[in-house]
Amino acid sequence: MPNYANSTLLVTGAAGNFGRIAVEELLARGATKVIAGTRDPSKLADLADKGVEVRKVDFNDAASLPQAFAGVDRLLIISTDAIGSRVAQQTAAVEAAKAAGVKHIVYTSAPAARPDADAGLGPEHFWTEVAIAGSGLDFTILRNHMYAENNLMNLPQAVASGQLYGLVGDRGTSYVTRADAARTAAGALLSAQGKTVEDVTGPAPVTNEERARLASQIAGKPVTPIALTPADLKAGMVAAGIPEGFAEALLAFQRDAVTGHHGVVTDTVARYSGRQPQSFAEFLEANAAALKG
Ligand SMILES: NC(=O)c1ccc[n+]([C@@H]2O[C@H](COP(=O)([O-])OP(=O)(O)OC[C@H]3O[C@@H](n4cnc5c(N)ncnc54)[C@H](OP(=O)(O)O)[C@@H]3O)[C@@H](O)[C@H]2O)c1
Repeated sequence: MPNYANSTLLVTGAAGNFGRIAVEELLARGATKVIAGTRDPSKLADLADKGVEVRKVDFNDAASLPQAFAGVDRLLIISTDAIGSRVAQQTAAVEAAKAAGVKHIVYTSAPAARPDADAGLGPEHFWTEVAIAGSGLDFTILRNHMYAENNLMNLPQAVASGQLYGLVGDRGTSYVTRADAARTAAGALLSAQGKTVEDVTGPAPVTNEERARLASQIAGKPVTPIALTPADLKAGMVAAGIPEGFAEALLAFQRDAVTGHHGVVTDTVARYSGRQPQSFAEFLEANAAALKG
């Protein structure tokens, strides 16, 4: 594999959870010219103290981006959390990267990114992928599968209530930890070539039944998996206070687990990060305290 450790590497969104891990990994792997991009450079004073160049990078300020990306060889664009605005934001970043002479873009996409109206958050990632491919630059699209950490938002509640809701026909989700995905992105920034689209997954798909069994075993309390129709699952989420638009996005992820889109397993984490991905059971064991509430 080539090694771009001496190229100028910029990570956008470096103050986010994923971005921080990616920057730390680049430094740990010997990158010599790392630039941490963020909307608020004051949040990265600790990295600046370590000698990392910190630049203001805000995709909402398109006019500032060519300067922000000046001199950069390879760029990791971390998808933003601004659901609904991401195509415009990220397309602005891609256009600015091209204008600034960036040679390779790594982008954090999502599993089965596609334009279909019922694909939840997929279209925003798909149209960003299209913009990247259309730029003519080299790229590595990393379709990060569901973070294992997402489970810390709903499994504690399932443990408390003794019920875990999912969809009829669930075929599993290959949860990957955020840290494994971020270290993979850093590895791709350091070594990937050409134009590729790669799924970034954990080591095995985990069904809702398996999630309930593991949560129950680790928390020491019974958790019953309950399989619902999409309409009933969405109605339950809305009744529990989840805004309808977000409930629809969550439901889309679950539908994709039924069709098998989320059960894909690849070796992308091991290839780019040099480590085997943490299994879902290991992740839950490490977060047992959070599960017990
Ligand atoms: N696969 C999954 O299960 C999953 C789950 C949740 C999220 N995600 C995606 O993965 C991304 C990284 O995850 P995370 O856990 O690190 O999220 P996070 O900590 O919430 O970070 C949000 C990210 O969005 C960036 N951002 C927001 N507005 C921006 C703007 N105007 N210009 C440039 N960057 C902007 C932030 O950068 P700064 O604050 O540094 O400016 C930060 O990197 C998320 O943003 C989301 O797209 C995936």
